[in-house]
Amino acid sequence: MIHHDVIVVGGGLSGLRAAIEAKRAGVDVAILSQVHPGRSHSGQAQGGINAALGNHPDGRDDNREKHAFDTVKGGDFLVDQDCAVQMAEDAPRVIYEMDHWGCPFSRFEDGTIAQRPFGGAGFPRCCYGADKTGHYLLHTLVEQAYRLQVKMYVEQYVASLIVHEGVCQGVVAYDMIRGGFEAFTANAVVIATGGAGRTYSNTTNSLISTGCGMFMAYHAGVPLKDMEFVQFHPTGLYTTQILMTEGARGEGGYLINDKGERFMEKYAPKFMELAPRDITARSIQIEINEGRGIGGKGYVHLDLRHLGAEKILERLPGIRDLAIHFEGVDPIEEPIPVVPSQHYWMGGIDTDVNGATVMPGLYAAGECACVSVHGANRLGGNSLLETIVFGRRAGAEVVRYLETLTDRRPNARSAFAAAQMMEQKVEELGVREGKENAYELRAVMTEVMKDHFFLFRDEAAMREGLERLLQVKERVKNINLRWTGSVFNVDMIRTVELEGMVDLALCVAVGALERQESRGAHFRTDYNTRDDLNWLKHTLAYYQPDAAGPRLDSKPVTLGHFELQERKY
Ligand code: FUM
Repeated sequence: MIHHDVIVVGGGLSGLRAAIEAKRAGVDVAILSQVHPGRSHSGQAQGGINAALGNHPDGRDDNREKHAFDTVKGGDFLVDQDCAVQMAEDAPRVIYEMDHWGCPFSRFEDGTIAQRPFGGAGFPRCCYGADKTGHYLLHTLVEQAYRLQVKMYVEQYVASLIVHEGVCQGVVAYDMIRGGFEAFTANAVVIATGGAGRTYSNTTNSLISTGCGMFMAYHAGVPLKDMEFVQFHPTGLYTTQILMTEGARGEGGYLINDKGERFMEKYAPKFMELAPRDITARSIQIEINEGRGIGGKGYVHLDLRHLGAEKILERLPGIRDLAIHFEGVDPIEEPIPVVPSQHYWMGGIDTDVNGATVMPGLYAAGECACVSVHGANRLGGNSLLETIVFGRRAGAEVVRYLETLTDRRPNARSAFAAAQMMEQKVEELGVREGKENAYELRAVMTEVMKDHFFLFRDEAAMREGLERLLQVKERVKNINLRWTGSVFNVDMIRTVELEGMVDLALCVAVGALERQESRGAHFRTDYNTRDDLNWLKHTLAYYQPDAAGPRLDSKPVTLGHFELQERKY
């Protein structure tokens, strides 16, 4: 058994930032991560991070209030407004902190941090480092974590929480390199494991984005909030769904249909290609569905050619490389085939503005958490911001929590029992004579999510999707795990996590069926308007060990800063 004051699960931006904050306060903190932190999914983020710095010549009138308002409107008013105000307030200070820590942001001629326009924003407020912003931020924080000597355990798959008398006291992790499960006790745990994009087959997300932190908390009795709100990025690469940053449209790129039209004129005449993602993604899909995809096929074009080689090479070199290598298209010469693709999870572990969950000792930050600052639709550039703002806040809150504890000795018996339970579970999986294959079942689940819970939803299709998910859940009980030994047993991890991923998929399905309105990314063709009278509320999903799906409840949205209004762009 290993002990640290604080365990952070996940080594991406929010996990690193939480750990750095706690370590700077003198707390013994350790990060447990499936991959080396420098390889976390945060590094895939491209286009930028929002803060009302007012550096752009067209952004001089920008301010934090306007950033908060754009965020609330972008989220179709399901955002907790006090939290959005807090995020916008914290934004400039975290950007300057990252700058001082050496993050190589792109610069304007006058030396200030460069900012570009991004979707749904009234001003160009997205700070960036070419189109590799996530990578730059991530490596800056990895450096800081090393400098502060934050302890890191890598190649650790965290499988469950240790809970003693309703208080979180650590985690159980599978040590992939040495084999076997280990109990890590702690006085507080911060989950920072990112999103669950891999529950969809058409995602921009990395293989590690399986939602493991979300389902771990959910299985331990912590509610998940607003899970029906899943973001589909307008521009994934056609054949692989690799992200083609919104920054490409921020720099002036066009979306073009088969008739050569800039079709966004019909859907968002003012904001055009820089309408929020939910609107832009649906517009693309309508063009495709109505036969105006390129050559009648299932994609439209992202055209950057008019930007010129110099601008593309300076500001968008990463997506140029990706388009060349994965689609065989050089954006300097040809338009890029793109499709809407699953990208981000607005919902997640229900937390307050400091990352606290309903379980004492358990905190969450980043994409796995739902504060909620994104509501029904996140604005581009607000997710990198969320990771750092709320990672920092969670780290600080954990320090305050530790100061309130009179007894700092986690219960060893509960910790051993939790580790033993995981050992037993895996042993049972290894000897079971089931007929099902985890990879095949995962493929069924991810296709169901793509086919039944994508951009346009309706009762009949969702009911059918839910039925199919319930069948997958039954079949998961019958998986035959090919036992390849205790070291680096990826098949075992995939099997264990599939169970949790199906539960997350069920939260999306049941929440989406229940919510009889259209709001942000949740668009129902059978209830195609927003209904504030009945649905201006957060969904809470609770795990029921003895039932197939979640129990749903709700809680109010915090209003008070901005008036509700119709969302037009
Ligand atoms: O398009 C992008 O670069 C993605 C940014 C984001 O998800 O915030």
